[in-house]
Amino acid sequence: MRFSKIIWLEKTDSTQNEAKEKNLSYNTVVVSKIQKRGRGRSGNTWISQQGGLYFSILLNPNELKHTDQLSILIGLTISEYLEKLGVPASIKWPNDIYCKGKKICGILSEKTGKSLIVGIGLNVNQESFPEKVEAISLYNITGKKYALTEIFLGLLSSLNKLFEELPHKDFSDFKNRIEEKLIYKGSEIIVKSDPPVVGILQGISEKGNLLVLTSEGIKEISGGEFTLRPVI
Ligand code: BTN
Repeated sequence: MRFSKIIWLEKTDSTQNEAKEKNLSYNTVVVSKIQKRGRGRSGNTWISQQGGLYFSILLNPNELKHTDQLSILIGLTISEYLEKLGVPASIKWPNDIYCKGKKICGILSEKTGKSLIVGIGLNVNQESFPEKVEAISLYNITGKKYALTEIFLGLLSSLNKLFEELPHKDFSDFKNRIEEKLIYKGSEIIVKSDPPVVGILQGISEKGNLLVLTSEGIKEISGGEFTLRPVI
């Protein structure tokens, strides 16, 4: 098992910061029951109360293949893991996981110095979320409470399998599986870029970029966020 060094914490600011600042060796995983300042993408806060799973993995990018697509590949792995638990899950490009139209898991990839730190937040046993947070937990879906350690070790084992496979596979080997799970395919979306891109979500490219059919043809979007276009 590649991820055999695990640091278990009761509480921390952010497992991302722990993985960044503690001079740890590659493939160490930091997991915490609570985060006081959990971070999401684009400077967002990641609400991290008791009951969720919060962990970060310190990776050596030189040992990896497909680093540009790693987040979406991890998203695929986690959504397939959730399905094994009987919870249908979709991928919202670039790397969120949705169940029943709400976010259940977020992935944050950060490059620092020579390392790549991938942080994963999965909503497991939370009963509710603050108002305005459009989130859902495994408990909200199945009505069951889960042993966090079991879910964590199960996920690590699925991620280990992904990392074993990566050197022997092309991204195209995963592309269909990702597209099958892509949420909002065929819907009209707005990509939050300058200027915004409006069009129909088609799928992903061989590089993992988002393909959007616009009035000027297909556009390939390499990063950022999108929302559904509101019906006026
Ligand atoms: C997002 O969807 O915006 C990404 C959320 C990532 C949250 C995880 S929880 C573990 C790790 N530590 C953090 O502070 N953030 C990531």
